[in-house]
Amino acid sequence: MTDHNLAVIILAAGRGTRMKSATPKILHPLAGRPLVAHVLATARQLRPSLVIAVVRHERDAVVATISDYFPESVIVDQDDVPGTGRAVEVALAALPTDFEGDVVVISGDVPLLDSATLAALVASHRAANAAATVLSAILDDATGYGRVIRSADGALDRIVEQQDATAAELAVTEINSGTYVFRVGPLRAQLALVGTENTQKEKYLTDVLGLLRGAGAAIEAVPVSESWIVAGVNDRVQLADAARRMNTQILRRWQLAGVTVQDPATTWIDADVTLAEDVELLPGTQLKGATLVARGAKIGPDTTLVDCEVGEDAVVKRTDATLAVIGAAASVGPFAYLRPGTWLGAGGKIGTFVEVKNSTIGADSKVPHLSYIGDATIGEHTNLGAGAITANYDGVNKNPTVIGSHVHAGSHNVFVAPVTVGDGAYTGAGAVVRKDVPAGALAITVAPQRNMGGWTVANRAGTAGAEAAAAASDRSDG
Ligand code: UD1
Ligand code: MG
Repeated sequence: MTDHNLAVIILAAGRGTRMKSATPKILHPLAGRPLVAHVLATARQLRPSLVIAVVRHERDAVVATISDYFPESVIVDQDDVPGTGRAVEVALAALPTDFEGDVVVISGDVPLLDSATLAALVASHRAANAAATVLSAILDDATGYGRVIRSADGALDRIVEQQDATAAELAVTEINSGTYVFRVGPLRAQLALVGTENTQKEKYLTDVLGLLRGAGAAIEAVPVSESWIVAGVNDRVQLADAARRMNTQILRRWQLAGVTVQDPATTWIDADVTLAEDVELLPGTQLKGATLVARGAKIGPDTTLVDCEVGEDAVVKRTDATLAVIGAAASVGPFAYLRPGTWLGAGGKIGTFVEVKNSTIGADSKVPHLSYIGDATIGEHTNLGAGAITANYDGVNKNPTVIGSHVHAGSHNVFVAPVTVGDGAYTGAGAVVRKDVPAGALAITVAPQRNMGGWTVANRAGTAGAEAAAAASDRSDG
């Protein structure tokens, strides 16, 4: 399936100054992946024989990310000569000398470009037997872009950069998207002739088109179906625009695959999330990372899941969870905080104002209210009363709490770890469980209650409480 006559060059050496960021532009995240990872994924889908990435600015960080997402890609360092033309020239040197096919050139900062658009561009280029084919776009506001200059018969003549354009050229609304297909031979030949005599003193890739035309070669500009596809990310306004657009595409894909999205405007789904049919997403839901949601589960409102797995028909309301596994038909929230290592079995419950980390809660077990469960293993069909706390940290070490199956813990219990509670055991309200509880035992740690009659009147004379107590006593006397 590999197209041995196709290579892709990704231009990723630019500075990205307008982002005003310590993070290189193409490493800024979009839908859970760095910008450049989207471009790499698109390139890979074309099944080229080779993908070459040209780097320079923040080289090591950029290379680490590229190698992470696409280890097979070839990295080429751009030298001191600036410009897109120079970037492509150094990339060509990495191609096998016997390569005679077509070279696709794309920018690392155009994350919405899809492989279908690129494949169509390659097909059009080959059908026309062109030396170069530019993907263009018609924009209402062409500011900043190179303009596509056509001759009177409509044929592509050349591309002129904004900085070098005349007033008449600036009025042109067809722009160069920065995406091209070139036949490698003519590209090599003309690039060697491109100089840096322009306003920016850069070696422009775009100059190749005019030179090819002058040499009598066939060159084409093909407008993209919708201009947002080729929108570049240069600043944070464009980053947010691209993120919104990509989210719309992702939501649409899942909606068509059978997912209900009640409020697309407030629902965000990362590119690597997987959803099943009949999943329902309520307003304010963010599904991030490699989150996976099984059939019929209902997520939200106001829920963020990062790298989580949610089982069939589970319900997760107003929850923040990272690296948690939620079993089938389990219930989580509202107002739950699930930290890494939380594992909730089928039919289980993590309820309101409950924090859980690094703990297993078995099938049909419930931690319904106001609790902290850390480093605990809880069996099946166990119920912890409101306010259960595992005291897992002794100031030096984190210690485990093990609670068996069919345990009924009273309200407001503290389990002072390390401690074990056996199957079928009970604990009283307010118990501070410092010692192991054998299976089937009832553990009570709170002193029996003593009532000292008349205490308030005797010790708090003159207070409202004393008056109320006296009145109550009069009523019961009468
Ligand atoms: C370029 C085009 C312009 C087009 C626009 C589309 C040229 C001369 N101009 O302009 O016609 O409308 O893209 O967005 O090509 N890069 C390198 N090495 C360099 C310079 C740039 O790898 O020395 C990379 C950048 O990282 C970026 C891409 O090339 O991914 C485009 O560079 P950029 O500086 O954004 O070019 P523009 O001036 O926007
Ligand atoms: Mg640009």
